[in-house]
Amino acid sequence: MAKKLFIKTHGCQMNVYDSARMADVLAPLGYAKTETPDDADMVIINTCHIREKAAEKVFSELGHWRIRKQTAQARGGDVTIAVAGCVAQAEGEELVNRAPFVDLVIGSQAYHRLPELLARAERARVKGSGGPHAAGQGILATEFPAESKFDHLPDEISTAPGPVGYLAIQEGCDKFCTFCVVPYTRGAEYSRPAEAIIREAERLMATGVQEIALLGQNVNAWHGEGPDGSAWSLGRLLRVLNDRFAQSHPRLRWRYTTSHPREMDDDLIAAHGEVAGLMPFLHLPIQAGSDAVLKAMNRGHRAEDYLRIVEKLRAARPDLALSGDFITGFPGETDADFEQTLQLVREARYAAAYSFKYSARPGTPGSLLPKQVPDAVSTERLHALQALLQQQSEAFNRACEGRVLDVLFERPGRQPGQLIGRSQYMQAVYVSDPGLRIGDFLPVTIAGGYANSLAGEIARREAA
Ligand code: 5AD
Ligand code: SF4
Repeated sequence: MAKKLFIKTHGCQMNVYDSARMADVLAPLGYAKTETPDDADMVIINTCHIREKAAEKVFSELGHWRIRKQTAQARGGDVTIAVAGCVAQAEGEELVNRAPFVDLVIGSQAYHRLPELLARAERARVKGSGGPHAAGQGILATEFPAESKFDHLPDEISTAPGPVGYLAIQEGCDKFCTFCVVPYTRGAEYSRPAEAIIREAERLMATGVQEIALLGQNVNAWHGEGPDGSAWSLGRLLRVLNDRFAQSHPRLRWRYTTSHPREMDDDLIAAHGEVAGLMPFLHLPIQAGSDAVLKAMNRGHRAEDYLRIVEKLRAARPDLALSGDFITGFPGETDADFEQTLQLVREARYAAAYSFKYSARPGTPGSLLPKQVPDAVSTERLHALQALLQQQSEAFNRACEGRVLDVLFERPGRQPGQLIGRSQYMQAVYVSDPGLRIGDFLPVTIAGGYANSLAGEIARREAA
């Protein structure tokens, strides 16, 4: 009988990708994915370490799984519990010590070894007398191997992802922004070769995906090997991918995330005006608008550099919708620095954005800086920034009222008969229509534009 695998994914889209790949690795061992945690034989908690709040979630969630395991064992069964992702990578030792009922702790670069690690966990269980871990603690696999895990992942996609597929093309980060754990949890920058990416795109399309998001912590730093042996840039990869699938999948949509301003070269900017399938949306975080803060963050660019890039992007693609990330209360940030963040937001004009209060992360240089900003001040700034960003996203969404946007429907809404899709600008679009199905890609007349979403009606039944 097939064993059931439940995966709980926290954090970014890369974690969503990794979770899907872990399921692919386990499929040949007879594990089939389940959405109901209660009948799972194995549970993977795929974790995020980016801010303190995200990391804390793991330990509270584990309490629940410990009880589940105890109950299963009392009935003579068991549940294998694995913790994966960035908390596993950063706090693996602590996890095995603090939570001995966890069978496996798997870092971000080790999950291709799941079959072997599972076999070892199984053996430890058999050896132990008086409990699953009488022979010791859970198994810790957090080393960074010399070879990329991508060379060892299976070709087969075990579960169709739905209308939108994620494809990791790059991983890791060498930028070392002083607030960020990613260079430590994901390791050095690595770019997959172009041919491996093309093959994976083909496999995703065979499952029926209609949009592919190319992923990387520094996706626009991708410089993978081309079939000719030379290093390609992301602009070139996008052109090749688009051309390659233009005939067979003329309506396929492409996106890429997340980008760093320093890697936004002219060829990539030009691609936004030239590659038909590339969506007019870009997530380009700046984090702060003051040059002093950007310097303390080790971002390697000034506010003005960012604004020039945005200007060039809009010259290439006038309707480009811009998105960003911001941090308030980075150590040393003054009221005047923060005012410059607001000013930058006014100039750049965002369609959407994420903003966070600075969270000092252990092991990062930022956590050691003097002049940590009091929490109340960071909070106040966050609220002021969010009010401005909300105004901008609402204005952007309201300006779409009356327009017909192309919407790919991805998931059910809360109301019966309601589905939620994404426009080309990445807005969430709500439509209630009994004839609508997930995977429909239709023109929608926008009736209402709000702070975080749009509402509309199907304009025509057939594709535009
Ligand atoms: N504190 C607050 N926000 C952070 N981010 C990354 N590290 C931190 C931190 N220590 C934010 C950045 C990044 C996004 C993914 O998370 O804005 O772009
Ligand atoms: Fe973190 Fe900066 Fe690297 Fe982005 S570029 S992953 S924010 S260190």
